[in-house]
Amino acid sequence: MGDERYEVGMIGLGVMGRNLVLNMADHGHSVVGYDRDPSQVAALQQAVQASHRVVGASTLEEFVEKLASPRAIMMMVPAGPPVDAVIRELLPYLQAGDLLIDGGNSYFKDTDLRSQALASKGILYLGVGISGGEEGARHGPSLMPGGPREGYERVRPLFEAIAAKVHGEPCVAYLGPGSAGHYVKMVHNGIEYGLMQLIAETYDVMKRGLYLDDDALHAIYARWNQTELQSYLLEITAQIFRKVDPHTGKRLIDVILDEAAQKGTGMWTSQSALELQVPTPTIDLAVAMRNLSTYKSERTAIARLVNGPSPHFSGEPSLLIQQLSGALYAGMILTYAQGMALLYHASGVYQYGLNLEAVARIWRGGCIIRAALLEEIRAAYQGRQAPSHLLLNPRLARAVMDRQEDLRNVIHVAVELGLPVPGFMASLAYWDAYRSEWLPANLIQAQRDYFGAHTYERIDEKGVFHTRWEEA
Ligand code: 6PG
Repeated sequence: MGDERYEVGMIGLGVMGRNLVLNMADHGHSVVGYDRDPSQVAALQQAVQASHRVVGASTLEEFVEKLASPRAIMMMVPAGPPVDAVIRELLPYLQAGDLLIDGGNSYFKDTDLRSQALASKGILYLGVGISGGEEGARHGPSLMPGGPREGYERVRPLFEAIAAKVHGEPCVAYLGPGSAGHYVKMVHNGIEYGLMQLIAETYDVMKRGLYLDDDALHAIYARWNQTELQSYLLEITAQIFRKVDPHTGKRLIDVILDEAAQKGTGMWTSQSALELQVPTPTIDLAVAMRNLSTYKSERTAIARLVNGPSPHFSGEPSLLIQQLSGALYAGMILTYAQGMALLYHASGVYQYGLNLEAVARIWRGGCIIRAALLEEIRAAYQGRQAPSHLLLNPRLARAVMDRQEDLRNVIHVAVELGLPVPGFMASLAYWDAYRSEWLPANLIQAQRDYFGAHTYERIDEKGVFHTRWEEA
């Protein structure tokens, strides 16, 4: 037994790493685990079952020795410098043909640099987005792999075994070369930010506008989750309102500080979207609102200085609640549409060759943004006439059109009550702009040409034109 060789190695045995190891072992794969912190190695060994073929290693050298060649090693360490540190320490033990996998939320440009540096040494490098948190890692995440196809084919049976399944289909697909997997995961998280912001806005309108208590909120979100809105994020939202804080006996939600943290993936999505000139306003606003939430002391000071309108709603509450659900569904479609449009353009620029139908398919299960709506989105990308934008799909365009009055009414009410709903506002403005054949950008062209001679194009003649605007 002493010289038994294991199929795959895991570096980083925190919550995600440990649970992925156990998931792999459940499916009959043999795994060596390593962590700089010996207590994490011990925690893994505690958690393994008799049927599992899992062993811990106390040094990197021992870890590498226990692996069958060519080696397959996955890293589950925090994004950024820790990934480079692990690669640096590991490199002396690796050989050409070995496969290294980064399963963290790494910035896609870092993944490209790392994979190029490792390719020059003959080492295959996969950047794999993994979504689903602890529960997903243990029982079936959504996996978004990118990198050399040859590397993916090597771990494909393992990935297909551990991934979440929807109607028997594993939530994993080879997405493309280089950083394709990490790019897709980044956009997944951008969409996640957008959806969370929209849900939070429905909460605000119902809490501060309708004075609903946590039981009522629980019931509404649970009911919504039985409809077209069905999604993991609504499911957990409903549960959140029921949770009691053991220290105070109050609902936990009411003792949680209203400042939202972030690790940066939503911001990266917006940054990339700006760079590629793809509008993603709902995601941008979601990032901005997380940022604004952290200015708590300033908000508190200003709240003492100024007043908005009194948040007293005089209409029919059940009607507003119904409109909120329609607005949320429209907002969800518009958020996914922005993320998918970004993927469409990034795929061209970075030559990922993304199959958006496959992306929608692997997001249907295991991941944080899984939702019934993804079946519709997947269907929209099926066939040879896949649209370049989701709103070009008649069913999805119709779904937003049918709910645009809800969106307008919700925004109208929120504006009157002085409640901020920037996610809904951005979503509606995106819809109104994107569906407009004419936009006032002609004026912007004229202004640019006026002050900077930047030239403009005409609707009736080809070419570029400049006018001396100040001449009579
Ligand atoms: C997932 C999550 C996961 C993580 C986010 C949280 O798909 O499982 O997106 O990756 O929870 O990174 O992001 P923030 O800390 O930025 O909210």
